[in-house]
Amino acid sequence: MSRIEHDGPLIIGGGLAGLSTALEAAPRKVLVATPAPLLQACSSAWAQGGVAAALSPSDAPALHAADTEAAGAGLVETTAAQLLTADGRETVEWLAALGAPFDRDAAGDFAVSLEAAHSRARVARVGGDGAGRAILSALVAAARAAPHIEIWEDGRLRGLIQDEAGRVRGALVERGGRLLEVLAPAVVLATGGAGGLYAQTTTPAALLGEGMALAHRAGAEILDPEFVQFHPTAMDVGLDPMPLATEALRGEGARLIDGEGGFLLGEAADADLQPRDVVARAVHAARAAGRGAFLDARAIGWDFPHAFPAVFAACMRAGLDPRESPIPVAAAAHYHMGGIAAGPDGRTTLEGLFAVGECAATGVHGANRLASNSLLEAAAFGRRTGRRAARVTMAAGPVAAPVAAPDLPPEGLKRLRRTMSADAGVVRSAAGLSRALTVLDQLEARTPGALPTAAARLIVLAALARRESRGGHWRGDFPEAAAEARHTRLRAPVPAMAE
Ligand code: SIN
Repeated sequence: MSRIEHDGPLIIGGGLAGLSTALEAAPRKVLVATPAPLLQACSSAWAQGGVAAALSPSDAPALHAADTEAAGAGLVETTAAQLLTADGRETVEWLAALGAPFDRDAAGDFAVSLEAAHSRARVARVGGDGAGRAILSALVAAARAAPHIEIWEDGRLRGLIQDEAGRVRGALVERGGRLLEVLAPAVVLATGGAGGLYAQTTTPAALLGEGMALAHRAGAEILDPEFVQFHPTAMDVGLDPMPLATEALRGEGARLIDGEGGFLLGEAADADLQPRDVVARAVHAARAAGRGAFLDARAIGWDFPHAFPAVFAACMRAGLDPRESPIPVAAAAHYHMGGIAAGPDGRTTLEGLFAVGECAATGVHGANRLASNSLLEAAAFGRRTGRRAARVTMAAGPVAAPVAAPDLPPEGLKRLRRTMSADAGVVRSAAGLSRALTVLDQLEARTPGALPTAAARLIVLAALARRESRGGHWRGDFPEAAAEARHTRLRAPVPAMAE
């Protein structure tokens, strides 16, 4: 195995969080490793909503923070939410200065729209439903042009390198079939979420919670992994992953109906704009009862292709014209609120290890993320992480020989994904979660050390232990919220260094 020393942060992941971190770490040399070419296989590029920020005269960061806390069902870290929302305008301006073409109003200010559970219109959008790709494209161009950034677009994370004190000293990266030990003063995990652990997901299927699993294995604290957000309107058109039908469609008057045309959540005009978990459960229940669930967006009419080009294109590819027919939808894994416990500057409980973006749990989302707060978090906390990680100096001394994690064979992954959707999905119970644990035990016995199994186990164990319903975590056998909101904190012992 060859070894290289990189005297600057090693960032694993090239989505919005990873690239914001990389850009802001200047002038320190940065190495970004991603398993696929930039803009492919990361969730940021797929985001349809936009960036939430207090941008209009009638809004304020304190109002945005209050909405973020209300959505998070008692588990939002107030200080982190205040920092995030205070960073809002500056972050959107930073992204715009890098070339993100945000929609503007007649006066040239950022145009903002309203999304569910926001008390003000505050979502800065790009070209209707194309925010993620347009913003990320601007960052990719800036990162490619930045002399301090080197990018490996074929570098897959296989392990973390630690010393005797547990400090993270580098990562094991696979490139072109070869394993490389990359030693660095700081390793930043920006590996994205875990939606690929579910058979029904709106995220790239390659996102399997591997960063979280490796961080846990290394002894870092994992916070609230049971909180997975399910999006209520993933298009059920036979594709894996499922294309998203953005929530903004409902903001524009699209309605959720069953196969008979009855309203899923009642007739009231704002019934379908309830929090995402409530709507996701209604969609899940209608499908489970055999009534079907559809998003009727016919009212949007002939403006559809212009207003929602990404959704329109996905529908047409599936042979469905949303101006004429309701779109079949299902609730699908969309975002992981839990993950590697980290501060707003990315620091984890392990020295040398940082986490940012969806793989991190900074406490800003609590039990349920407010729409469009994820892109804000990725960029705002990415910038903070970049500045902090750039200050870390290289440690000296021996490191343990890293062990490369094996892949789960395709049939094992398929079984895992089916199990997670069926038994650790929108509605959970002790019986289903115990069934899921049995399957995970069998998969682990066949392929010891595979990261998707380890990530799924963290979610299932925490879901089993949380005997209440809160935010994105719903227990059919414990439908009430406990009187006191408590975090789940999981921590494995730091591995001993081999002789
Ligand atoms: C959506 O556009 O419905 C998703 C936005 C988000 O997940 O924040």
